[in-house]
Amino acid sequence: MRKPLIAGNWKMNGSRASIKELLDGIKAGIDEVKTAEVAVCPPFVYLADVQQQLSGTPIAWGGQNLSTEEKGAFTGEIAASMLLDFGCKYVIVGHSERRTLYGEDDAVVAVKYGVARQAGLKPILCIGETLEEREKGITEDVIARQLNAVIEKEGVAALGDGVIAYEPVWAIGTGKTATPEQAQAVHGFIRNLIADKDAAVAEQVRIQYGGSMNAANAAELLSMPDIDGGLIGGASLKAEDFLTICRAAG
Ligand code: 13P
Repeated sequence: MRKPLIAGNWKMNGSRASIKELLDGIKAGIDEVKTAEVAVCPPFVYLADVQQQLSGTPIAWGGQNLSTEEKGAFTGEIAASMLLDFGCKYVIVGHSERRTLYGEDDAVVAVKYGVARQAGLKPILCIGETLEEREKGITEDVIARQLNAVIEKEGVAALGDGVIAYEPVWAIGTGKTATPEQAQAVHGFIRNLIADKDAAVAEQVRIQYGGSMNAANAAELLSMPDIDGGLIGGASLKAEDFLTICRAAG
């Protein structure tokens, strides 16, 4: 059985004070989360605080991005080794905001996936179509292209070391969630695509849904057979909402 993973992507939100309050709230309720693995991904500058506050708890943490480079003259970048230095287990790779706002293409995302994995981090690979692509009927082409970029560079077995997050771009931050059936259709497509290359990896890899998942719609989405957790934006900033989603995963 795949253990569901609920991860909070805080994006560029929070302060030292608000993060302390949020983590106090999550820690207070974490014992009621029976099955799911739980993680949070704060902005880089708060990783030390998060490490201090979450060490010794069952909650993991990770970065929202990483550099393609190991070290050196790359102003403003953060290396995989630095994330490990602060106890990160996960790192988000190829989030649609990185792809669209910061020009990360499939090739860059594939490099980041490999760099993270080789360093010992678990990459959370984000893939997903835009509304225009969905309306054109090319959702599966887009998903296959994004996934194959990683498979071709790193090999299909590499997917077993990470997590996939299906995040339809039209559902991110819009309040428009994919229906459980819409999400399941794409999750099933992703698993089949991997199974064609390696059935064991396909069975093992966790595929999260992301895009306006919240306390009200999480249970229904998480009940679908190929939805193995969630990557949560807005609703991960409120302890009670985040915990409700975590409990919904089991
Ligand atoms: P929202 O949950 O705010 O739609 O964000 C989803 C997301 O982008 C998580 O990575």
